[in-house]
Amino acid sequence: MLETLQPQPADKILALVQAYREDPRETKIDLGVGVYKDATGLTPVMRAVKAAEHKLWEEQDTKVYTGLAGDPAFADAMINLVLGDAVARDSVAAAATPGGTGAVRQAFELIQMARPDARIFVSDPTWPNHLSILKYLGMQVVPYRYFDNDSRGVDAQGMLDDLAQAKEGDVILLHGCCHNPTGANLSAPEWDAVIALLQKTGATPMIDIAYQGFGDGLEADAAATRKVAFSVPECLIAASCSKNFGIYRERTGLLMAVSADQSARGLNQGTLAYLNRQNFSFPPDHGARLVTMILTDPTLRADWQAELEEVRQTMLGLRTQLATELQQRAGSDRFGFLAQHRGMFSRLGTTPEMVEKLRADHAVYMVGDSRMNIAGLNAQTVPILAQAIVEVGI
Ligand code: LMR
Repeated sequence: MLETLQPQPADKILALVQAYREDPRETKIDLGVGVYKDATGLTPVMRAVKAAEHKLWEEQDTKVYTGLAGDPAFADAMINLVLGDAVARDSVAAAATPGGTGAVRQAFELIQMARPDARIFVSDPTWPNHLSILKYLGMQVVPYRYFDNDSRGVDAQGMLDDLAQAKEGDVILLHGCCHNPTGANLSAPEWDAVIALLQKTGATPMIDIAYQGFGDGLEADAAATRKVAFSVPECLIAASCSKNFGIYRERTGLLMAVSADQSARGLNQGTLAYLNRQNFSFPPDHGARLVTMILTDPTLRADWQAELEEVRQTMLGLRTQLATELQQRAGSDRFGFLAQHRGMFSRLGTTPEMVEKLRADHAVYMVGDSRMNIAGLNAQTVPILAQAIVEVGI
């Protein structure tokens, strides 16, 4: 039976991990998959996570199933982290999921159950796995303009013009902060314009927020998501704990369905639990429990926030250093956008041929669309990268 299977395309981001590993050159630089690395190249377990794990090991006396939607305390803690007091708690249905990707997948399935003919408007470009999952589910995708390759910022007018085509029953997928793969983000007034358009068209926003705390800070990064959720009748939010808690392999995420009509919550909650049951029954609990412990214990929380802020500042420092090195070596300000972008990623805005040249001639690994993981750099490798970019003629 299985001989009928067709080979599937390799994931472009994950394929890079393997190619990098196999490269024997000592000077190689990995700017591929989105994981944070410290100056020594390690993706550390955060201090608060270690402390919570220790406590959990001592205190946990059962590993019996949680609820289908995970532990309600995790949902409460995460809703508070992402939404603050922007909406009433009893307007939010929520289910824990295996990572942010799990939340995205469940959200798409929820949309498909509710509106099989919904069109999903996605930024051009977006995280490739959004497109891959949508294709797998057979859902309709409508790209909207987002990245302006000249300024390396957001083409806000193009975006608004394209989104004006959406209508009630369609979904507009937005990145809450730290846009992946470009690093270019909407300003506060541009978010307001998107919200006005959501209100006008009646389309439902779905927000993917995977990097809260990596851009302008924990609160600032959630501001747009909160404003959207507050301003529209219905909103889906897929949140990830992979990056900001550094618990990538624990697969910890939350899908939220916010409804201004609070009577809808019961139906939404039941449907989220049902969807979990069909796909994997109970969501993973270990990471979710650590996150709950950290967010509800003032000491652990303060330490986590302090370390997350160190991570954010490190990435900002690398951005500034890279923009400065390039300015000096290229004798031009054309790379200034690197210091303006936020989050882990920046799209350099060059061709796949140049990306390949960087790999072949300089052992620099980035995604083919010229997305760089800024956290893959350190103070020593920044000048090497800057030199490589100038030498290949970008
Ligand atoms: C990325 O975009 O590199 C991360 O979100 C990791 C992934 O799963 O692709």
